[in-house]
Amino acid sequence: MNYTFPNNFYWGSATSAPQSEGYHPLDGKGQNIWDYWFEQNPELFFDQVGPETTSTFSQNYREDLALLSQVGLNSLRISISWSRLIPEGTGAINEQAVIFYRDVLSTMHTLGIEPFVNLFHFDLPMPLQNVGGWENRDVVDAYATYANTCFTLFGDLVPHWFTFNEPIVIVECGYLDHFHYPCIVDSRRAAQVGYHLALAHALAVDTFRTGGFSGEIGIIVNLSPTYPKNDEPQHKYAALIADCFLNRSFLDPALKGTFPQPLVDILKKHACLPTYSDSDLAIIAQNRVDILGVNYYQPRRVQAPSTPNTHSFMPDTYFIPYEWPKRVMNPYRGWEIYPEGIFDLAMRLKTEYDNPRWYVAENGMGVENEQRFTNESGQIQDIYRIQFFYDHLTALARAINAGSNCVGYHVWTGIDNWSWLNAYKNRYGLISLDLTTQKRTVKRSGEWFYELATTNTLPKPLAK
Ligand code: BG6
Repeated sequence: MNYTFPNNFYWGSATSAPQSEGYHPLDGKGQNIWDYWFEQNPELFFDQVGPETTSTFSQNYREDLALLSQVGLNSLRISISWSRLIPEGTGAINEQAVIFYRDVLSTMHTLGIEPFVNLFHFDLPMPLQNVGGWENRDVVDAYATYANTCFTLFGDLVPHWFTFNEPIVIVECGYLDHFHYPCIVDSRRAAQVGYHLALAHALAVDTFRTGGFSGEIGIIVNLSPTYPKNDEPQHKYAALIADCFLNRSFLDPALKGTFPQPLVDILKKHACLPTYSDSDLAIIAQNRVDILGVNYYQPRRVQAPSTPNTHSFMPDTYFIPYEWPKRVMNPYRGWEIYPEGIFDLAMRLKTEYDNPRWYVAENGMGVENEQRFTNESGQIQDIYRIQFFYDHLTALARAINAGSNCVGYHVWTGIDNWSWLNAYKNRYGLISLDLTTQKRTVKRSGEWFYELATTNTLPKPLAK
């Protein structure tokens, strides 16, 4: 079958400021939570590699963007680093950062790459974490001011804005687990953070609309279609609750202006409802997005806990993971590969959310030690990644044929980048990065992607 995509489809890649920019002592950037955490506990990061000097987009962006254009991108998501633009989180603007981002955006336009710009990718300025981070309502207002500053400084160059990347990950990894700073495990505080993030998002959308800025605005959520172990009622209930906690918690406010009722009921039952106000709920209700970005990597399979947990309320009070015997794994990242999930998500958006304008904002495969697949000409033959893209894109093409309003597909990522605690362990790029020499080399998947993006038709995967 020949899979062709709609005209003007966005083919691109995504990255984020903290994972690609790097920084230099003289560039005026302030410290964010990742810079701070790495300074305090470098041993927690793979190979003790931090965010500062290994990534060099802030020095090398003109060449990097030219290379990304060579692999066929017509669009690219970057993020603005709040701590680069406003080093203290509030107050004075770093003029060097204004020059830098304006030049990045102008260079993208010159190369025919449409900017998709995200305002927040897990990187809270440290001075704001020091006053309580996302638990503090003042930080929500500081974020709205920061968003307005970005719209004002860069709005003439940005057609597509996004408020947050994966806000639920900030809650899960930073307030229910130890994968993100501040590594707090507390359901009540997690709920407050989640609510404040949803509010910060809505305030930014409100600011964008009342300011009369041009372009569209949305949010990027990570969605995992959630499947129960089987049709038994307790497992179906577990899946419903997992879906409310981890998908609908940000999807519903963004698209419907409300929070899922089962989630609200459970938080209330466990005395975890956040502090909120009716006027803030009205802001959330009134500010639905123009476009939704969906990061899709893996499905979620759950079952009901067999024994009631004895510790205080946590999500696993209601659902625990289920290992599907037929699952296919990416062993490096430990994530299931399930291309059909993208079709299921698209159909759900169509039927339950009024078929919004949306795009795949991240999809990709992280693999360790890719150097072993280098051929004699020095190119990584990442055939597995091409197969991964191909399988997901056939599912996406079927969804579009079935009426889904999907307008683009961005891979994670263009050039290999830094990945939080995993640092540079798993590589995702269409272009490899040699950390020692800083040399960039297009992988086999980069060539395949070029053919895809320039013909709008899915090329066959390559033989293994
Ligand atoms: C997404 C994030 O969840 O997945 C990215 O938006 C991240 O920041 C990507 O890098 C891949 O995950 P990881 O943990 O392997 O880097």
